Amino acid sequence: MQDVRILVLSGSIRSGSYNTQLAGLVAKYAALSDAQVTQVSLADYPMPIYDADLEKEKGAPEAARKLKAVFQKHNGVFIASPEYNTAITPLLKNTLDWVSRLSGEGEPPAAAFRNRVFALGAASTGALGGIRGLIGLRTILEIGLGALVIPDMGMVPNAKSAFDEHGEPVNERTARLLQAMVDRLIAEVKLRG
Ligand SMILES: Cc1cc2nc3c(=O)[nH]c(=O)nc-3n(C[C@H](O)[C@H](O)[C@H](O)COP(=O)(O)O)c2cc1C
Repeated sequence: MQDVRILVLSGSIRSGSYNTQLAGLVAKYAALSDAQVTQVSLADYPMPIYDADLEKEKGAPEAARKLKAVFQKHNGVFIASPEYNTAITPLLKNTLDWVSRLSGEGEPPAAAFRNRVFALGAASTGALGGIRGLIGLRTILEIGLGALVIPDMGMVPNAKSAFDEHGEPVNERTARLLQAMVDRLIAEVKLRG
């Protein structure tokens, strides 16, 4: 059977980030579904703002190379992305841009994003749950980077009151939604064998 290895990350490095909390929850659900799970923080992969002159002069930052290698060790990825003014965070966009610039010998462009399945989620203090940012993120990943992104999305609106003291969703429907997304992600990874 296909070995399911899920990478989980958050587009926020804020202490107390709701998206990091969501990422942790998805990591837990995936592990309970027998996937091997790695959760990383983008704080451990610091990169300067992408600048083509800087790239020409110095190449991509070491953190981008390291993160690309981490992507390539996994066959499924979950990204929890905050919504900033209807878009994803500059941190997440910058990270994706740098990693997209790396293709090894014989690899297709944006190699880190191909041949693996992505699932997206968002936690927002607003009522819409960050879905507008996820539409943008889906465009970047699917159309820009050639990734496969499953239709299910894990939205957590009104995030300030969405989690209990154990970090579990207070709303049963949210828990079901996240579990269904994790089930689909794992199923799609297995399908691609
Ligand atoms: C610059 C900025 C813009 C934001 N724009 C939106 C927005 O368009 N929609 C939304 O639902 N929340 C918006 N928010 C609120 C975020 O959802 C909220 O700050 C959330 O907690 C950020 O995610 P985090 O907790 O993972 O850091 C914005 C926050 C910031 C700082």
